[in-house]
Amino acid sequence: MVKKMKHHYAGLRRPITDETRASVAEDFPEIALIPNEVLRARAVEAWSYALCCSDFLRITDLPPEGNPGAPALRRGTQADHVRGVVRLSRLIAEEFAQSYPSVAVDWDILIAGAVCHDVGKPYEFDPGNRNRWQAAPADSGAPTFRHSVFGMHVCLTVGLPEEVAHIAVGHSFEGQYMGVSAECMIIRQADHGWWHVAGALGLITPESIGALSGNLRAREQRNNT
Ligand SMILES: [Fe+2]
Repeated sequence: MVKKMKHHYAGLRRPITDETRASVAEDFPEIALIPNEVLRARAVEAWSYALCCSDFLRITDLPPEGNPGAPALRRGTQADHVRGVVRLSRLIAEEFAQSYPSVAVDWDILIAGAVCHDVGKPYEFDPGNRNRWQAAPADSGAPTFRHSVFGMHVCLTVGLPEEVAHIAVGHSFEGQYMGVSAECMIIRQADHGWWHVAGALGLITPESIGALSGNLRAREQRNNT
């Protein structure tokens, strides 16, 4: 018997407007740290494109989660995470560049890569996509693409360099099966470190903390919120 499946096409659900671009720059001021102006503009375009391929209107509408559901911050939005990862990636690279002046870092790729590492999350977190995947996982896969893979697609679509797209796909689990660039390794450590430290300091919900490592013990926060 021939199975008739409905086919789906990932693409813009609404036009990209200057309002969307302005919201990206406003929600994610660290994009301004990308030294090269072309990469800076394309990073704004990447997030704008990704949002407009989903029903999320802006980055601060995305839940503060590593993967859908877990680990989840107790409060805040996805912007808190991606902004933190840009700053932390920069601190790691600066530490090594200052202590070992012989090391070479491509700062454009590092900062643009950190900015765009989770650019596939609007797609993977989109409620419509999630409901569809849950309803018929054997048809669609569940998810069809993780955010890392869709993020690679977004980066290439808006004309970002392969080196940035490599970071989107390599920052997460997929990076275990690849040789990763130096910039990708820094961002992997910053990203995973960010979630683990957030967990240790009591910023992750108790019900989702199991998604992080087994030796993690969450400390209570001072105001216990
Ligand atoms: Fe991340």
